[in-house]
Amino acid sequence: MKLCMVGSGYVGLVSGACFAETGQSVICADVDQSKIDALNAGEIPIFEPGLDEVVERNVAAKRLQFTTDVEKAIRDATVVFVAVGTPPRGDGGADLTSVDAVAQMVAEHAQREMVLVLKSTVPVGTNARVTALVKDAKHAIRVVSNPEFLKEGDAVNDFLRPDRVVVGVKEEDAPAREVMERLYHPVCLDKNRLIFMDPPSAELTKYVSNTMLAMRISFMNEVSQLCEKVGANVHSVRHGVGSDSRLGPKFLYAGPGYGGSCFPKDVKALVHTAREHGMELELVSTTDRVNERQKGVLYRKLRERLGGEIRGRRIAVWGVAFKPRTDDIRESASLTLIDALLAEGAQVAVHDPEAMKNAEKRYGDRVEYASSAYAAAEGADAVCLLTEWREYQNPDFERLKSVMKQPLVLDGRNIWTTYGLGRMGFTYEGIGVPSAEPS
Ligand SMILES: NC(=O)c1ccc[n+]([C@@H]2O[C@H](COP(=O)([O-])OP(=O)(O)OC[C@H]3O[C@@H](n4cnc5c(N)ncnc54)[C@H](O)[C@@H]3O)[C@@H](O)[C@H]2O)c1
Repeated sequence: MKLCMVGSGYVGLVSGACFAETGQSVICADVDQSKIDALNAGEIPIFEPGLDEVVERNVAAKRLQFTTDVEKAIRDATVVFVAVGTPPRGDGGADLTSVDAVAQMVAEHAQREMVLVLKSTVPVGTNARVTALVKDAKHAIRVVSNPEFLKEGDAVNDFLRPDRVVVGVKEEDAPAREVMERLYHPVCLDKNRLIFMDPPSAELTKYVSNTMLAMRISFMNEVSQLCEKVGANVHSVRHGVGSDSRLGPKFLYAGPGYGGSCFPKDVKALVHTAREHGMELELVSTTDRVNERQKGVLYRKLRERLGGEIRGRRIAVWGVAFKPRTDDIRESASLTLIDALLAEGAQVAVHDPEAMKNAEKRYGDRVEYASSAYAAAEGADAVCLLTEWREYQNPDFERLKSVMKQPLVLDGRNIWTTYGLGRMGFTYEGIGVPSAEPS
């Protein structure tokens, strides 16, 4: 088999490198010249733990290559994976321009029978639509849906040791099913984690998984507000609730609202799909609304603590990435906070262990990029913790207090809630946990 991965971003690069790791010959193709140049120069254009080793090993073994010549890569392949972006459109639906462009290229340039695998997250009906786009190709092209479930920050592990691999394949496409079985066999050796189903069900499974996780977060974010009103502690509530084996402890953390390249867009896209079919998914649209509101929570708390005076204040933002162990800042709650602060005339100093380059692409010289978390806090009226990077979890609070203009901390991840920061002289605000005054 010769695999071509079209789109070499967080999903395409990880998937391509991991398939190469299992012995396949893979070419990763992308239209982004700078990304491919970096990869060909031995640099990894994204931060993803462990990916550099896998890429290096497989490039050295000549199983993994990179190109911008998408057409040629498609011509040489027997299996083409589509891992291009499907960003949100203004109306909430997914923008399928890149997916369609790849499908058209495959229809035009396929040199033999081929399996075309949709790995990008695409709305229900996309498999059928792409099948229609390639039906007049010279050779039979079987279109398979194989949504990706990897998590940034642990993507290599997720790909090589998946909970499950979902494959949507049409009944008449038995040869494509065999190809997928072979490709995923090495990551399913301990038990069969391959789940075959019809393409619409596979497409929907991806959205329902992400939406259900997002819904848990939004629910706990609402609960955190109730906790503040009734004097409960969301930290304890989460512990109690998550200890129920029917519920489990994951995705129950109150915070500044979920972000990233998947949850916000996938939740909106599912709402859009339902509307296209004349239906309102009430729980899902509420999940989205709750999240939009939650993204403003730290700003509102900060404003109140500063007596409504934001202009001219220096605010340190710790963490720009939407979660730790990634440099991805797409839809991060940090951006909502920074945007609001800049709009009100604050002076913003940011720090992030991995996401500074991406922050700089977005903000240019409008914010200060601090060399350390303490440098960001130097002379600050407040420190806002947005991303729970390890290095922020237990900082030297005496040092922090000594460099700040006033000791006000807003903990968007409830990491510092049990540290007794009031006793250390700080004013502390978390999310759904008791605040503290200097004592
Ligand atoms: N990032 C995640 O954690 C994750 C997880 C699961 C699923 N997904 C889904 O996977 C898809 C890709 O996400 P991503 O985060 O890897 O995006 P990304 O933006 O990191 O990468 C997409 C890549 O596709 C390239 N591209 C766009 N059009 C192209 C074309 N016509 N030909 C060749 N290359 C093209 C872009 O240059 C870019 O490098 C999306 O549908 C996303 O929803 C993402």
